[in-house]
Amino acid sequence: MQEKLPGSLSKNQLIDQILRVNYAGEYGAKRIYEGQLAVLKSGKASKIIEHMKEQEIVHMNYFQKEIINQHARPSILYPLWHVGGFALGAFSAILGEKYAFACTVAVEEVIADHYQEQLNKLDPESELSHKISKFRDEEIEHHDISIENKAKDAPFFRLFSNTIKIGCKIAITLAKRY
Ligand SMILES: [Fe+2]
Ligand SMILES: [Fe+2]
Repeated sequence: MQEKLPGSLSKNQLIDQILRVNYAGEYGAKRIYEGQLAVLKSGKASKIIEHMKEQEIVHMNYFQKEIINQHARPSILYPLWHVGGFALGAFSAILGEKYAFACTVAVEEVIADHYQEQLNKLDPESELSHKISKFRDEEIEHHDISIENKAKDAPFFRLFSNTIKIGCKIAITLAKRY
């Protein structure tokens, strides 16, 4: 692979950025589900959300381990991911189960694209690429599970999901750098 990549990041800088933003994102995803579970507590929706949260924790732990192994710089905005993720999750669940799932549909659409963008830049034979590819497939599963659970029946689905998508894209831009 060439040393300098488009956007003028070296390979090491690219890996550093990928680990930072992905760990922050998976941490935020876990917090979104924790916020939803704090509101929904029990029932069918909470079982589904609990399962998705368990997968986010596996994703998060992998990136955390790699941040340590590769001496990457972690995000300094943890208070924001901690509070913002939980608040978004809780807010969506207060609006109702359909909105909780609508939130996941919006987030996972952005994350699946974000992971695909990284996969296009990485060596497809690398461990990092294999992991991101597996995680991307699981994010797509979360998206599909949420659609099955009537996310799109939430009134104002489009407005709600577009707003969340903008927020996610801002969070990604921030977490890449900070
Ligand atoms: Fe994830
Ligand atoms: Fe997910």
